[in-house]
Amino acid sequence: MKDGIETLGTRRTRLAASLETDVRIREVFAKVPRHLFIPDQVWPGLVGPSLDRNTDPEGWADQVYTDAPVITQVNEGCDGPANVPTSSSSAPSVMATMLEAAGVKPGHRVLEIGTGTGFNTALLCELVGTQGQVVTIEVDPSVLKRARRALEAAGYAPATFLSDGVDGHPSGAPFDSVIATCALVRVPAEWMRQTRPGGVIVTPWAPGVTLPGGMMAQLVVGAGANLAQGRFVGNADFMSLRDQRGRRGAPPDHDAIADRTWTLTGDARDLVLDGAGPQLALMNPGTAMGFQPLPGKERSCVWLSAVDSPSWARLYADGRVEQGGPDRLGERIITAREWWRAQGSPDLTEYGLTVDITGEHRVWLRDPSGPSWVHVRTERGSLGEEKAKGSARP
Ligand SMILES: C[S@@+](CC[C@H](N)C(=O)[O-])C[C@H]1O[C@@H](n2cnc3c(N)ncnc32)[C@H](O)[C@@H]1O
Repeated sequence: MKDGIETLGTRRTRLAASLETDVRIREVFAKVPRHLFIPDQVWPGLVGPSLDRNTDPEGWADQVYTDAPVITQVNEGCDGPANVPTSSSSAPSVMATMLEAAGVKPGHRVLEIGTGTGFNTALLCELVGTQGQVVTIEVDPSVLKRARRALEAAGYAPATFLSDGVDGHPSGAPFDSVIATCALVRVPAEWMRQTRPGGVIVTPWAPGVTLPGGMMAQLVVGAGANLAQGRFVGNADFMSLRDQRGRRGAPPDHDAIADRTWTLTGDARDLVLDGAGPQLALMNPGTAMGFQPLPGKERSCVWLSAVDSPSWARLYADGRVEQGGPDRLGERIITAREWWRAQGSPDLTEYGLTVDITGEHRVWLRDPSGPSWVHVRTERGSLGEEKAKGSARP
């Protein structure tokens, strides 16, 4: 290695060139050095030790200039038995998808929720140019302090605030777009009010599902700000917004007793894992899903569990399906899969989401007036008290 910076520069150019996105977005990835925003200590895995730039500069550079997320804080800065990511720099290809979906242009005013390392903030500053403005909000004081230093050192001057992103930033409204870099169950009505009509909210949306981690929603705000609506642009496995954590359901107990067991031809896990996972999650409100390694001979299963009842199911590699509880989740996922195939196996991007000002979150297929499933309801008059609840079934 002749010179560390030169090597990092070469890696940066290669990574930027590999991104399949708008040319302007590729240019800003080539211009803004990600390594200026990544701290010396990062966590390569969900278990195991951290990696330190000073003792492993090559390993650190690989982390920084690979198209993958870099975990920059675990357990909110505390020790723990596992590395639960609480801040990170998202994967560049995912960031590019979000920036493209937000349609950020020179002169725009953009609100970012989740400053994290500040890298995405810097990319936004480049995209809006000197005539635009970026407002970024972070809830964790130590994360924001570090991001502010990195942004200043790299020559960027966004407006940075330490607060809870669910409130947005009313005094900076209206924004042309809001970009959230943490996953939501409920899109706050405040963000709709603070986005201009025709403006865009781009956010990872994870309504109680663990498999996949969530979907990326691109929502256009309607006139009067009483509706935000649009298609999903892909999968999105993001850490949750801080006060919306812990709503993703839990796997059934290992010793749960099945009411019914039967065997399908082939690998039952393919029902969920083979191309239709996000779509099946969207068509099964109130159902959490996950992938579970199992002790003994069984290698793994896909589990389902109802968020608000004791119902559960497991799907195994040898075709076995087990289910317990009144909601018959095993039968329901098979019906959903058959219905999806009868619809021509629609891609995730054919599904969309409508959020109205009362807080209802409705997923639809192909058109807002098409088949739909309510994932989040709101008690009348109470925007904060939504109940995740199943509704229409395919
Ligand atoms: C995936 S990271 C952000 C990535 C970041 N945009 C970047 O480029 O590095 C998500 C961030 O959201 C922050 N966060 C979580 N809940 C929040 C909330 N309620 N308001 C503001 N920030 C929040 C976390 O502390 C974390 O730093």
